[in-house]
Amino acid sequence: MKFLPAARRGTQDALVDPRKALKDHLADWRSWGVDAVPRALVASTANPPPVSAAASPAPVAAGPNPEAPAGAASSPDLETLRVLVASCTACALCKTRTQTVFCSGEPSPLLFVGEAPGADEDATGEAFVGAAGKTLTKLLKEVGITRDQVYIANVLKCRPPNNRPPEPVEVAACAPFLKKQIELLNPKVICALGKHAAFSLMGWEGSMKSLRGSWRTMDGRWVTATYHPSYLLRSPGDTETVKTDLRGLVDKLTSLGARLP
Ligand code: URA
Repeated sequence: MKFLPAARRGTQDALVDPRKALKDHLADWRSWGVDAVPRALVASTANPPPVSAAASPAPVAAGPNPEAPAGAASSPDLETLRVLVASCTACALCKTRTQTVFCSGEPSPLLFVGEAPGADEDATGEAFVGAAGKTLTKLLKEVGITRDQVYIANVLKCRPPNNRPPEPVEVAACAPFLKKQIELLNPKVICALGKHAAFSLMGWEGSMKSLRGSWRTMDGRWVTATYHPSYLLRSPGDTETVKTDLRGLVDKLTSLGARLP
């Protein structure tokens, strides 16, 4: 039994158990890869969605939306953009994700951009909560920065299967989201984590050894790169180098007259 909008329901349908009809309807959506529904469908306005721009592990998505990236440019705020991202079916990753991963942290003048969610992020809906995230948190702490002082996003908002590197078509599909996320967040300093993020953000190629520590500007923001925390799990010998780079981010903010919250 398919649930029909009220306007299309006949008298016969009025006898259908609305709970079952809704359950069937949601099962259809789930089979299309949708894992959440608009809050307006399930809650009264006495229970409004959170206004925080930070990550929420349970994004409230509209129906499947292959055109979502095209709508990013007109998102008025981060929360609207997060909901739009949650509805995205523009590339094949929507079929294998558990949920989209929008960010971690609160708005900040310092933005980190990683590559893509891994298994832990896919499960929780928050960026950098797995092993790489723990490494990042530890290093930040060692240079005097807490996780809640920075904002972390990814190039891709969906997990690539088996954590494989992003495909160009996926990066292209997701790019309008990151672009708008940066515009709305308006950070002063951006640090790409790893070469995939550096390439996607700035078209930077070459080794991280040659890139790290160098700065460019993009739309009036300062952008640099350092090794991805996952790389450090394999090559801990570069840990001090990353800490030097993290201190450099704070120095850059200070030189711009900006402070971490
Ligand atoms: N690696 C990333 O690049 N991003 C995450 O969110 C987690 C691991």
